[in-house]
Amino acid sequence: MRILVTGGAGFIGSAVIRHIIHNTNNEVLNVDKLTYAGNLESLISVSENPRYQFSQTDICDRSALDQLFNEFKPDTVMHLAAESHVDRSISGPYAFIETNIIGTYQLLEAARQYWSSLEAPSNENFRFHHISTDEVYGDLEGTTDLFTETTPYSPSSPYSASKASSDHLVRAWNRTYGLPTIVTNCSNNYGPFHFPEKLIPLMILNALQAKPLPIYGNGQQIRDWLFVEDHARALYKVVSEGVVGETYNIGGHNEKANIEVVQCICELLEELSPTKPEGVAKYEDLITYVKDRPGHDVRYAIDATKIKNELNWVPEESFETGLRKTVEWYLNNSEWVAHVQSGEYQTWVNKQYQVQS
Ligand code: NAD
Ligand code: DAU
Repeated sequence: MRILVTGGAGFIGSAVIRHIIHNTNNEVLNVDKLTYAGNLESLISVSENPRYQFSQTDICDRSALDQLFNEFKPDTVMHLAAESHVDRSISGPYAFIETNIIGTYQLLEAARQYWSSLEAPSNENFRFHHISTDEVYGDLEGTTDLFTETTPYSPSSPYSASKASSDHLVRAWNRTYGLPTIVTNCSNNYGPFHFPEKLIPLMILNALQAKPLPIYGNGQQIRDWLFVEDHARALYKVVSEGVVGETYNIGGHNEKANIEVVQCICELLEELSPTKPEGVAKYEDLITYVKDRPGHDVRYAIDATKIKNELNWVPEESFETGLRKTVEWYLNNSEWVAHVQSGEYQTWVNKQYQVQS
């Protein structure tokens, strides 16, 4: 396959590209604007490979997209580019409307124009895989239900509303124009190369720097955690074996309350990094309850039966093994961390957490 990956310099996109380049013979064109969340240092292990190319391009730029389609001639698109952080969507929703909705529209139109020019069997084999989130289904508060592929959409945040919009656009382009699309909706990812604005890497790095561990509200909100490399394997399986027009939910069956996750991180750090910063007796003493996220969804949980039964995908990592690998990775990759924590990151952290504490 010749795979055009959008958002390949981000957390999940870079895991997808590392997976494809290291484990298959496919070619990849990484199309990424390099926002604050894009980081080419996450792709060092593939950057010299002749099957990998990079283009710094905004998916809202239609003429640049047309040129990339005509030159690279992809048979597969994996669309991961997005603004992805819920808290940022609350303080500045416009970038989410622009990239997640308008950008997806521009990419769909560029893909449709290119696909329309193909002849059989290339047009039948073409795939547009849209990578989305379980947050489009809304909140499972007070139930034991799981999100299935037919759960009605009920997004709560500007982020999830923008992702829901993009999912609807993709399905409409399939039904109306026949574009061969597939949608996946996944639960919370964690693992190496995760930008430290998200819960798990933020807590690991704050603890190591003796900073407060800010828990929103009462910390009882539940997320369903999946190791990022399991997600990358699932996405590759879907794009190569999934059925056009279908949706697949992806999740790890690892429902944990936020406070439980943070306590696990503290325990792992006690074991793996016992020499603590001055003034810290136990890492968990740094736990601090702060103002809740507005509109905070209380519980997410994925039913991943369909992808298991139809595509034979199951996660390889348990939460315990995946979290240990993640903490070890952050302890062993201080250079990546130092580069990420400079510049724009500091501005965000100061703004977000000064207001809260
Ligand atoms: P991320 O924020 O780490 O990376 C997003 C990437 O997209 C960055 O490299 C950024 O530079 C790029 N990008 C942003 N705007 C762009 C634009 N206009 N044009 C081109 N590139 C642009 O995100 P992530 O966590 O890797 O998530 C990837 C995708 O997976 C997103 O679509 C997200 O909604 C979805 N998803 C994420 C999770 C999760 O837990 N992180 C779970 C389910 C689904
Ligand atoms: O469910 C999939 C989604 O998971 C993805 O679509 C999003 O792109 C991804 O960012 C993630 O969204 P969440 O909002 O669930 O992830 P986040 O890491 O921001 O927060 C996880 C939980 O931890 C959530 O309940 C909020 C809480 N939290 C988060 C931060 C950053 C805190 O208590 N304190 C914090 O400082």
